[in-house]
Amino acid sequence: MSTPDLFTSIRLGALDLPNRIVMAPLTRNRALAGNVPGPLTVTYYRQRASAGLIVSEASPVCAEGHGYPRTPGIHSAAQVAGWRAVTDAVHAEGGRIFLQLWHVGRISHPSLQPDGAAPVAPSALKPAGQVWTGSGLSDYVTPRALARDELPGIVAAYRQAAMNAKEAGFDGVEVHGANGYLLDQFLRSSTNRRDDDYGGAVENRARLLCEVVQAACEVFGAGRVGIRLSPENRFNDIGDENPQATFEYVARALSPLGLAYLHVLEGDMTSDAAPAVDYARLKAAFAGPYMANNGYDKARATAAIASGRADLVAFGRPFISNPDLPARLAADAPLADANPKTFYSGEEKGYIDYPALEN
Ligand code: PHB
Repeated sequence: MSTPDLFTSIRLGALDLPNRIVMAPLTRNRALAGNVPGPLTVTYYRQRASAGLIVSEASPVCAEGHGYPRTPGIHSAAQVAGWRAVTDAVHAEGGRIFLQLWHVGRISHPSLQPDGAAPVAPSALKPAGQVWTGSGLSDYVTPRALARDELPGIVAAYRQAAMNAKEAGFDGVEVHGANGYLLDQFLRSSTNRRDDDYGGAVENRARLLCEVVQAACEVFGAGRVGIRLSPENRFNDIGDENPQATFEYVARALSPLGLAYLHVLEGDMTSDAAPAVDYARLKAAFAGPYMANNGYDKARATAAIASGRADLVAFGRPFISNPDLPARLAADAPLADANPKTFYSGEEKGYIDYPALEN
């Protein structure tokens, strides 16, 4: 067999992808009232359907899972209907789309929570930093530690959200286990001080994540479930005392399930330091396709796939400003730059007005 590259098809769990160029999950804050994805969001994803796979922006599984304004959820009938229009549009263009299941945990604020309650977390540890509430920046607050008997309810919320995603026509789901949100707060040692069977040793810290992944597999079948991890990302004030061991444990624990893929944000979004984790070892610990992410360009992505260091690569920013990214990469055409000012706010501008190449 010849050396694979970004344009070599691949079997990903239950799906056949025509290329290995994945659209990374990207928070865009364009949802309508009720956190419902609207017509602009339909157009945005339709324009990007040539990706081998689209992973949707992170979508809260329940009201308590929200931490940012205008993020589309997957817990109400109106949200399911909104997402259905998105998946129909992507499928009509011949594409495939997974929904990313999200719960922000402590990365929220009472003004974004039902009844103004404190956000929930594994432990009552306040994150450093500030949260955008929609009307300004506020300090994070000390979250409420979830009681042991509340944890089955968290798993149940993810399970229901996976069922909703299925009803909305998604091809599968990606469990967001990364970037300092709820499942990562349980997993990494800096944010989990629990003394029950969900805290302490890595087997315990990984328990909630593994239960959530298992629940998603029961809904979709493992071949339609991916997991996203970020072993050394310090974004959202998080860290782990031994990321190599923690994340290799998770990769090994999830391997027997036969998931569609392991998606890894490599390195640290908050610094330019070279990655300290050995990602080749992490990949080796996982029995399934490995999707690499974080700042890859065509040359690095091609080299990673050719060497076997990665099976697919997820691109974020380039997909914002290049809706036809696979065609551009194939043609070695110039890439348009994305405007950061419209990443997280605005309507059409910076969202659906980036043109495809003239052909
Ligand atoms: C963000 O809104 O900045 C954000 C959301 C989800 C992530 C990472 C960043 O996983």
